Parts: sequence; structure tokens; C-alpha cells
Amino acid sequence: MGSISLDEVHIWTASRDASDEAIESLRCLLNDEERRRADRFVFAHDRTRFAVSRGLLRVILGHYLDRPAASLEFVVNVHGKPALNASSNTDPPIRFNLAHSGPWVVYAVTLGREIGVDIERVRPEFGGFAIAERFFAPGEVATLHALPEEARSLAFFHGWTRKEAYIKAKGKGLALPLDEFEVAIDPERPASLLSTLPDPLEASRWSLVEIPAEPGFVAALCVEGNGYHVRQRRWPAEADPGTDPIFRIF
Ligand SMILES: CC(C)(COP(=O)(O)OP(=O)(O)OC[C@H]1O[C@@H](n2cnc3c(N)ncnc32)[C@H](O)[C@@H]1OP(=O)(O)O)[C@@H](O)C(=O)NCCC(=O)NCCS
Repeated sequence: MGSISLDEVHIWTASRDASDEAIESLRCLLNDEERRRADRFVFAHDRTRFAVSRGLLRVILGHYLDRPAASLEFVVNVHGKPALNASSNTDPPIRFNLAHSGPWVVYAVTLGREIGVDIERVRPEFGGFAIAERFFAPGEVATLHALPEEARSLAFFHGWTRKEAYIKAKGKGLALPLDEFEVAIDPERPASLLSTLPDPLEASRWSLVEIPAEPGFVAALCVEGNGYHVRQRRWPAEADPGTDPIFRIF
């Protein structure tokens, strides 16, 4: 089995714009429901990007479970968060989450910890300030106001990815009101979950970190608990998660 320990988080980054040969071999791994999902995309490049991201998810998880990628089964919770449908009690409790933006897909894998990940392209034209004013927590909006105008776009997308990583770790998506928790949003400050409502203790149950992303993109990770190493690798060039953690979360 590809190994992962209780004190590790593995991040895999891949391009969804694969060669025709890779697309075909990844598409072959999908089940009927996934193929139907792929077919529902109007544009061909969205169909192939979905097939690549789902096929690679199977390959990566199969690597940890030592099982054929095509044999894996998934379940989703009521808010759409996918999880492995364990085929036996002996399977390790692999948890995962994924996010895509543009050509990139990012997978986060842990053993027994809930996890959420997000990646976004920084789009200065997006008008994030108005969105933040409407949906973000008051402290986040105040931070945006205090920043020079040219710094706001990056701050908004840091806030977005950090908030989204948290709601994805919780598995609730947008059912979790975005103004009921506050993340550090200033690009000069490390990512963190600053406060949560209605239960203030919730903030201490999760750790939030920025993860390195391709130029023009930002990405964040939210993990249940702390005390872990994050290892980040590209797929497929570096098929082994290696030994050197890129950073440690205490
Ligand atoms: C569905 C949602 C979880 C993420 O959507 P998104 O940003 O469009 O997509 P991402 O690339 O981040 O993630 C998509 C993946 O998350 C996973 N996912 C879906 N629902 C999820 C949930 N409730 N919790 C965790 N993960 C979920 C799936 O694996 C999905 O990939 P797939 O469709 O290829 O299987 C949800 O938060 C949403 O609709 N967000 C809309 C964007 C937004 O307004 N965000 C506000 C941020 S401040």
C-alpha cells in the first residue's frame, strides 16, 4: 500500500489537461454513474476535465488502499461531499477532498481526519469586495476595508479559499453561513480559523493552512485537529509522496 500515517496530510496537484492517451485510460476507470455525469457537461473540455479529475482520484486513492482504481466505490453526504465506501473493516480510514480551478485539480488525503481543500484563480476583475461585504464575517470585511485597494483582490481570494476549505472539511458546503466564522484574510498573516459561531470552541478543533499553488492561484487546506506534516507532490511526475514534509502544523 502507498503509505500515509496519522500525522500526515498528503496533497497531490495535477493538471486536468492531460494527453489523449491519459484521458482515455482515466476515463476507463469511471463507473456508469461517473460517465453519465461526465456526459452531462456541454463542452468537451469540461467532460474530459471531469474524467481526468475523477479518474485520478481513483488512481490516487487506489494507491493508498492497494486496490484497483476502478473497483473503488464512493458515497456522498446530503451536501454532496464524497467519501470512500469502505469495502471491508480492514480498509484504512482514508479521508479525502478535492478542488479544481482552471486546469488544476488538488487532492488532499489523510488517515482518519476530516479534511477540506480549495483552489481558486486570483481574478482581480471578479468584484470580490461586494461579495465579501454581502456574505463574509464582519471582521473579514473590516480587514478588506483596511487594506490598500491593490491588495484587496488577493486578500479576498485568500479569504475565499480558506472559508471554502473549512466548509468543505465540515462537509456542509454553503449550508454553513459564511458570516458565522472568521478566517485570517490579510495576505501578510498566516491562514487560520479565528472564530466560529455559535460554538466558539469549534475554531480550536480545526487547523487552516495556505498551501503552495501554481502562479496566479491560491489554495488552502482545512484539517481536523493539528500536529501533522503536510507533504505536497505533483501527479504523475512524483508518484511517491517522499520523505521531506514541506511544513509542519503544530
Ligand atoms: C460544492 C462546494 C463544496 C464547492 O464547490 P466549487 O467551489 O464549485 O468546487 P471545488 O472545486 O472547490 O470542489 C468541488 C469538489 O468538492 C467536492 N464536494 C462537493 N460537495 C462537497 C461538500 N459539501 N463538502 C466537501 N466537498 C464537496 C467534490 O469532490 C467536488 O468535485 P467533483 O464534483 O469533481 O466530485 C460548495 O462549497 C459550493 O457550491 N461553493 C460555491 C462557491 C462559493 O460560493 N464559495 C464561497 C466561498 S467563500
